[in-house]
Amino acid sequence: MEAAQVFRKVEKIVCVGAGYVGGPTCAMIAHKCPNITVTVVDMNTEKIAEWNSDKLPIYEPGLDEIVFAARNKNLFFSSDIPKAIREADLIFISVNTPTKMYGRGKGMAPDLKYVESVSRTIAEHAIGPKIVVEKSTVPVRAAESIGCILREAQKHNPDLKFQVLSNPEFLAEGTAMRDLANPDRVLIGGENSVEGLEAVSQLVRVYEHWVPRERIITTNTWSSELSKLVANAFLAQRISSINAISAVCEATGADVGEVAHAVGCDSRIGPKFLQASVGFGGSCFQKDVLSLVYLCESLNLPQVAEYWQSVIDVNNWQRRRFANKIIAELFNTVTDKKIAIFGFAFKKNTGDTRESSAIYVAQHLMEEHAKLSIYDPKVSKQQMFNDLKNVTSSQDVDRLVTFETDPYEAARDAHAIVILTEWDEFLTLDYNRIHETMKHPSAIFDGRLILDQKHLQNIGFRTFAIGSASEQEYNLFGSSI
Ligand code: UDX
Ligand code: ADP
Repeated sequence: MEAAQVFRKVEKIVCVGAGYVGGPTCAMIAHKCPNITVTVVDMNTEKIAEWNSDKLPIYEPGLDEIVFAARNKNLFFSSDIPKAIREADLIFISVNTPTKMYGRGKGMAPDLKYVESVSRTIAEHAIGPKIVVEKSTVPVRAAESIGCILREAQKHNPDLKFQVLSNPEFLAEGTAMRDLANPDRVLIGGENSVEGLEAVSQLVRVYEHWVPRERIITTNTWSSELSKLVANAFLAQRISSINAISAVCEATGADVGEVAHAVGCDSRIGPKFLQASVGFGGSCFQKDVLSLVYLCESLNLPQVAEYWQSVIDVNNWQRRRFANKIIAELFNTVTDKKIAIFGFAFKKNTGDTRESSAIYVAQHLMEEHAKLSIYDPKVSKQQMFNDLKNVTSSQDVDRLVTFETDPYEAARDAHAIVILTEWDEFLTLDYNRIHETMKHPSAIFDGRLILDQKHLQNIGFRTFAIGSASEQEYNLFGSSI
């Protein structure tokens, strides 16, 4: 005889955490599963109000349309966390796990206080069986801690039943809706027990609404948790690898774009994530690589820790190397010189600035007393102010930085333009017009390799791009720091 089912068919999903992961993911589930009611909750009531307004709290191409179509039909945003938990069949934990800035593991380990707090809230308010799914990126065996808290509640209330699954999210910002609609894979990790397998198959059924079954991978919980860290570490490692090679290109006359293309044509290597840049940013790569380093150190695997730490070290070096290049090429002093920064987001098509390389390049230039005028099409002035204040001081930001809403104004009277985000609109600006209003000689430092160097040189700019030796001389970027 088959064992009775513990978990109901999933009809109500709750997601705790209405951020960059929770919001878009749940919007897609609601869009693809009209028979499932999805409620996204957050302790931040302002954020929930924004999710319920005409201006959503995050910018993500394609998100507005899906949210506006499903909202208040089968997609809800609410601050009533206990009610949502009581009613849910399945609960996603999508809260932030930032790098810890205090105590044990400071600067390395992810801070699990939000995950733990949600687990306790679930334990307190749950009635009946619940499938609890960690979507936040967590260290290996975090599911065990969540399970431990939930099992404690179970002891006092036999009606409660919990299964904890790992279902990491692989979406990238800027392409989140596309990634969610058409994922390379969905990964679900669970316990190898009757109830564990039942919970896994319930979540598989949710994704099967739109993801082909062969793209849904099921593993044990720890493999799933570790795979998320490893996927991000591999992607970050490719960027640090090509960025390390960019320095060799600058010193030799090789072109990093050509090298990346030639290397990426090998089907064993592949072309993606080989775009040299001023360094990777975003909320995930640095945090997850550091989490992996911390894990390896905790497991007494210092060689493995050191290997992954070097991915971070090269990234920091690349940012400083680029800032130093700007200073060197502006005749070794940027004091009181106006420098226009084009782009502040960590990549195009997002307003997110977390760990953006722009923050650190700006910081280095501010340390040299440069006057920055910053333009980004999607990042608010307040956000940029806060980011820069955190690495310098409010007084320095007030003294040295202006925030512009027009790139032409940002560049007026500047000695140089520095491209830090690869926004498409930077490709179509009228650089003739910009050049006329700048101080001469005018320079453009392309930290994203998006502009046509020849065209700019014909206008009269001095140009410098990561990973390409300029026509003017070799070894321009080559000086080590
Ligand atoms: C990343 C992972 O791609 C995603 O799977 C995971 O779920 C979260 O972390 P995200 O940080 O949103 O996504 O963006 P991604 O496109 O990976 O870019 C990260 C950083 O690397 C950006 O600063 C980007 O500009 C930079 N990058 C990316 C490069 O410098 N070169 C490249 O070739 C690719
Ligand atoms: P991510 O990029 O991982 O989605 P975000 O910072 O964008 O991270 O979003 C995480 C969200 O989780 C935030 O809106 C935060 O307010 C919310 N959050 C954190 N802890 C809790 C909690 N205990 N209960 C409810 N919401 C929480």
